Order: sequence, then C-alpha cells, then structure tokens
Amino acid sequence: MTPRSLQRVIPSLAVADGAGVKLRRSLGASQGLRHDPFLLLDEFFSDDPNDYLAGFPAHPHRGFETVTYMLDGHMQHQDHLGNTGDLGPGDVQWMTAAGGIIHSEMPQQTNGRLRGFQLWINLPAAEKMQPPAYRDLPARDLPMVGLLGGGEARVIAGVLTQGEQTTAGPIQGHSTAPLYLDLHLPAGSVFEASISAGHNAFVYVYDGDANVGAEQTPLPLRAACLLSDGDQVRVGAGDHGARLLLLAAKPLHEPVVQYGPFVMNTREQIEQAISDYQNGTLAQPG
Ligand code: CO
Repeated sequence: MTPRSLQRVIPSLAVADGAGVKLRRSLGASQGLRHDPFLLLDEFFSDDPNDYLAGFPAHPHRGFETVTYMLDGHMQHQDHLGNTGDLGPGDVQWMTAAGGIIHSEMPQQTNGRLRGFQLWINLPAAEKMQPPAYRDLPARDLPMVGLLGGGEARVIAGVLTQGEQTTAGPIQGHSTAPLYLDLHLPAGSVFEASISAGHNAFVYVYDGDANVGAEQTPLPLRAACLLSDGDQVRVGAGDHGARLLLLAAKPLHEPVVQYGPFVMNTREQIEQAISDYQNGTLAQPG
C-alpha cells in the first residue's frame, strides 16, 4: 500500500457569482487552479438571507458536469427542458451539461441556515457535445455507511473500499470514474480506504480539524488539499472531530480552454459555444 500525502493546498477565496451570491471558491478560483478532471469547487454557507436571495438566474453550461450537494437549506432549480426540482439537506443533483443546458439555481435558507457545495467535473472531448442529462438523488438513495475507524460516510459516487468491505454510491460508470464521499469523523477517529492509483484526489475539510497521510499533516479548513499519488488514503480527525469531502477521479490529460461556464478543448469550440448561446441554439433537447 502506498499512502497518499498532502501535496498542495489551494485555499478558498471569498467570491461573488450569479446575481451576487457570496461563496468560497478553492479549485477554479483562477485559471489553472484545477485538479484534472476537477475544474471548480464552491462552498456556499450563510446565516444572512441577503447573501443568497438573488440566486443564480438563468445561465448556460457546456462541456462538463456540475454536482450540487446540499447540507442545509434548499436549492430550487429549473432548466430549459422544463425540469424542475428542489434539493433539500443531504440531496444531490448530478447534472451532465455536455452539449448545453440553461438553468437557474436559487438557494433558499431553512431556519436561517444554508450550506452546500457545487463541484465541476470535466468531460472527455468525445462526450462534450452529447445531449444533456441529470439525476436528482434524494438523500435516501445515498448510502450512509459506518466506518471501521469510527464515524460514517455518505457515498455519492464511486465505491468506498474499506478492507474487504465495499459500498457503491448511485453514480457509476462515468468515464472519469469519480469517487465522491462526505466523511463525518468523530474526535480521534482514523479513516482509511483504498483509492485507485493514478486517479487525482483531494480532500476539503469544511468543519473541525483533521490530518492526512502517514505523516499526519494538518489540513487547513476550507481549502482544496491535493494529495500525492498512491493507492490508499488515511485521514485522522483532531480533538473537535471533522467533516470533509474526499474526491478522486481519473484524469483526462486533454487540453482545457475555459470561458466562464463553457469548458472545451479549443478556442474555436469556445467561440462556437458563445455564438450558439447568443443564437439560442446552445440548449438542445435532452
Ligand atoms: Co449552473
């Protein structure tokens, strides 16, 4: 077993997006801050309703997938195909924008609280212009599994492998083979799992304190902590316990040209996306 260790820290920055929504962006905070195939990670959290009322009115995406995961509050969404939904605590929306989708995302507080994440995962060149698709995954469809070293994990994508025990999440069979876990670790517990060698991985601690690797390197809060290669990950929780995301996926090793919500392989494809959006042909029937 080769344990992964902390390789690079990408701190989150306070940014505003949509109609002035305040959030913390780590991956994707500037061009080049990616971890192939991961393009962007936003954490939104607030107890001030004015931070979110305006939401994310109608906007396009092309060339990648967006994964929205709510912890507190709600996210109402609507797209050009007429799909609507309302994500509550523990729910996930896995949207494959591919060739194009136009949607709105409107966060709503519950009891004055709102918290969640949006992750962008790149698509291989061959899948960037496929028809769009998405799945709303209610919390009850996401396995919550007890961890051998204490605590529990919500398995959103991929397979959690602890020794001989495996737990599969609902998202399987994607080209990038994403693993998406939400780990809840009590104070002093140690999480250990197998992870595919060669896949890019990172952790994001959003609550408490934790360390990673055989060296037990402390992990900063609210930062994308990129891990070295290896086939095992070990995370220890500190005195306050920890809650964190663990993400891994197969890198694409393809050129990335990004312009806002369009992520393609060439500048010409970006110009095409902009002109398709302006002409009203970006959003295709699903
Ligand atoms: Co969007």
